[in-house]
Amino acid sequence: MGQFVLTEKYSTLTDFDETQNEYLNLIYEIMETRKRSDKPIAYIHTYGCQQNVADGERIKGMLEKAGFEFEDKPDNADVILFNTCAVREHAEDRVFGNVGALKNLKRKYPKTLIALCGCMMEQEHIAKRMYKSFPYVGLVFGTHALHMFPKLLYTALSSGKRVYLRDNDDELIHEGIPIKRDGTFKGWLPIMYGCNNFCTYCIVPYVRGRERSREKDIIINEAKEMIKSGYKDITLLGQNVNSYGKNLKDGVSFSQLISEIDSIDGDYWLRFMTSHPKDCTRELIDTIADSKHISTHLHLPFQSGSSRILRLMNRRYDRERYLDIVNYAKSKIPNISLTSDVIVGFPGETYEDFKQTLSLIKEVEFTSLFTFIYSPRVGTPAASMEDSISDKEKSKWFKELLDVQEEIASKRCKSMVGSTQKVLIEGEKGKDDILNARTSGNIIVEIKAPKELIGTFQNVEITEAGNWILKGNLKKQ
Ligand code: SAH
Ligand code: SF4
Ligand code: F3S
Repeated sequence: MGQFVLTEKYSTLTDFDETQNEYLNLIYEIMETRKRSDKPIAYIHTYGCQQNVADGERIKGMLEKAGFEFEDKPDNADVILFNTCAVREHAEDRVFGNVGALKNLKRKYPKTLIALCGCMMEQEHIAKRMYKSFPYVGLVFGTHALHMFPKLLYTALSSGKRVYLRDNDDELIHEGIPIKRDGTFKGWLPIMYGCNNFCTYCIVPYVRGRERSREKDIIINEAKEMIKSGYKDITLLGQNVNSYGKNLKDGVSFSQLISEIDSIDGDYWLRFMTSHPKDCTRELIDTIADSKHISTHLHLPFQSGSSRILRLMNRRYDRERYLDIVNYAKSKIPNISLTSDVIVGFPGETYEDFKQTLSLIKEVEFTSLFTFIYSPRVGTPAASMEDSISDKEKSKWFKELLDVQEEIASKRCKSMVGSTQKVLIEGEKGKDDILNARTSGNIIVEIKAPKELIGTFQNVEITEAGNWILKGNLKKQ
């Protein structure tokens, strides 16, 4: 493989511009001599949150421009790329396992390029471990180098040397990167990048850098284009969408942004994630209540029901403030569907604190929860806090929480039997001609309907309820 190159930093960063397009042409040419099939094939595997999925769609956009086709298995691929997530240890372990499993494939087809990108790669200790333990990985780059992927890929392909780039202090936004969206009627629209909140357990601010918002007009144009080309369910993305616009000159707020998108004509739902409770204002709730297209779903992560733990987490709201905004939302938006993230076993959490989490869950009655056992992350403040509760005890609490939530979700689903719901039909369930659809409140409904209706809105009468999902019949138009 020749001499190794370990590049910690490039001295200048370029926007996605003509230079990158020229690299895409060069990649096209070099792949003519390297590809194993008629067309160069890429296999892209994305882990983690929607932000990473949106980045993956840009990587695919660039590769498509360089002539690549995509397969969902690595076996025939000329370029294999893992777009990684660092949020919990489990996510990282899967990447190490999957890269390890490619050793034989690389031995058999030495020209296959194995590449790694995304949040995990912005961590120095991970990039070093990759470099030492996986010499057959030819390209490693972090989230901040996405816009220069063509240059990095070309360098790795043409030099035969390993190219490593970590650079997590870039505060620019790089517009104009080509996109190949995964869906044709459900799509992601990033409105901001990075995070400034530094919750003490979380790695995201370290691997995604400082919060920065995209210009409002660029977002509005992208939304218009998506609606015009048939997108029915658009999710605005950011780690804390409620603080959208803080770095922009004209001082536009998130409420203003979504009101403006909402005024675009068309039949579509508008969603957003994630809202941070500290910045979730009554103005935002009023905007949702008065809107035409914004879904009746609010994902509002509370993380813990104990104000003492919330302080240790540096969340900057307490239990009372959280319940206050939730109660306001319930009073303004009938049938609002609330979902949330919760962490069990944060360092120093006692069973008394955990009981506060259970009581908050019972009080709010969430539609569903994303539940996580705390996972220490290198370099975060919580990783050096004392943690005396055993893994076994944490797992017991976790199970207790799941049981409580299951009962709440089941009760909510049962209360919907007999109602009529507008749903978006999303795809096949995979057996018995059943299709999966989703309500505005983000609950899955199984219905018997012809495949041609995938990607359309329909009215459905709810006939049955499980613990988490509903079943229903298509209503005649
Ligand atoms: N920006 C979003 C969350 C992004 S990370 C917000 O502020 O809500 C998604 C979820 O992963 C978090 O809400 C949290 O519940 C969980 N999470 C983050 N770091 C974690 C850690 N170290 N251990 C366990 N769960 C974690
Ligand atoms: Fe992480 Fe907190 Fe930022 Fe969310 S708001 S990404 S949990 S630091
Ligand atoms: Fe994971 Fe990065 Fe998202 S760490 S959760 S992919 S922002």
